[in-house]
Amino acid sequence: MPLRSKITGTGSYVPGTVLTNFDLEKKVDTSDEWITERTGIKERRIVKGTEATSDLCLEAAKNALQAADIKPSEIDLIIVTTMSGDMPMPSTASLLQKKLGAKNAAAFDLNAACSGFLYGLSVADNFIKGGTFKKVLLVGAEVMSRFLDWKDRSTCVLFGDGAGAVVLEAAKGKRGILSTHLYSDGSQWDFICLPGGGSLNPPSSKTIKERMHFVKMKGNETFKVAVRTLEKLVIDTLKQNRVKSSELAMLVPHQANLRIIKATAERLGLPMSRVAVNLDRYGNTSSASIPIALDEVVREGRVKKDDYVLLEAFGAGLTWASALIRW
Ligand code: ACO
Repeated sequence: MPLRSKITGTGSYVPGTVLTNFDLEKKVDTSDEWITERTGIKERRIVKGTEATSDLCLEAAKNALQAADIKPSEIDLIIVTTMSGDMPMPSTASLLQKKLGAKNAAAFDLNAACSGFLYGLSVADNFIKGGTFKKVLLVGAEVMSRFLDWKDRSTCVLFGDGAGAVVLEAAKGKRGILSTHLYSDGSQWDFICLPGGGSLNPPSSKTIKERMHFVKMKGNETFKVAVRTLEKLVIDTLKQNRVKSSELAMLVPHQANLRIIKATAERLGLPMSRVAVNLDRYGNTSSASIPIALDEVVREGRVKKDDYVLLEAFGAGLTWASALIRW
């Protein structure tokens, strides 16, 4: 029997404050009709006051640990996937370790933008299969609202804040993560970026004046590449595992745009009842979107033992990734 990593608990958390499309109509030149038709988003959650990414991580992690029935002290490794951590240094994973009291864990952050959670899943899976760690806490968490230009209608309507977490444990047998697939094309790095605040453009009055500390996106160009790339990705992932799309119980896609999600589902011939969708309520929560959506379908009982579950994402980098799980 091969050694695999199995998801033994899921959890999620979104902040309490709701920002609707109608609220945004009062901030920028947009409409509920445009946002709904072009993206499928109706509202998103936004942090308040001093709430930061590690706070969202903590709540999602506590839910996942409770579901897996393990104590923080049992965790060997914490990975937080984020592009909006509390601060550049130390890692948000280290801050989470302290808040959680997971004193026996190693901890680091991983950034692959919206594909981050699946990159993290692949890293955790390989650490477990290689025997380095037995119990890994993986959290995808973002406070996008602090990195949005609230004067730019082409980006500020798209994103939201939230966190999702899974506990992965070593297990023998046919259930667990069957395969992960990671890709990148850095030649299109400028399709989605946040140019200010790093070593290239350190914070200065110029970077602030030029609004370089906010997310910039070539939306339409990104959209076309995303649809093409994801259609091929999901077909290739199933082929490599010799699983037919008719055998899939659930597709859990990254939540960037309902039109992209529907195009992928259509390519697979899947009815929308077998697709996890929450962007109407949370918008694009970047690397948090897949673990939040996964937690929801698991808690709703829409994923059962032995089911095939396909996860896929596309985001800045450009990066894209997938994973096939036998639940
Ligand atoms: N309200 C009203 N009008 C708007 C808004 C808005 N909020 N935003 C843009 N428009 C206008 C544009 O100015 C443009 O007007 P024009 O025709 O007069 O020039 C028109 O609407 C059409 O704009 P497009 O950008 O062509 O619209 P599109 O149909 O492509 O939808 C969107 C834009 C929603 C951004 C879509 O392209 C998309 O979802 N792209 C992919 C996003 C994605 O997958 N990103 C990857 C993950 S993100 C990450 O990794 C961090």
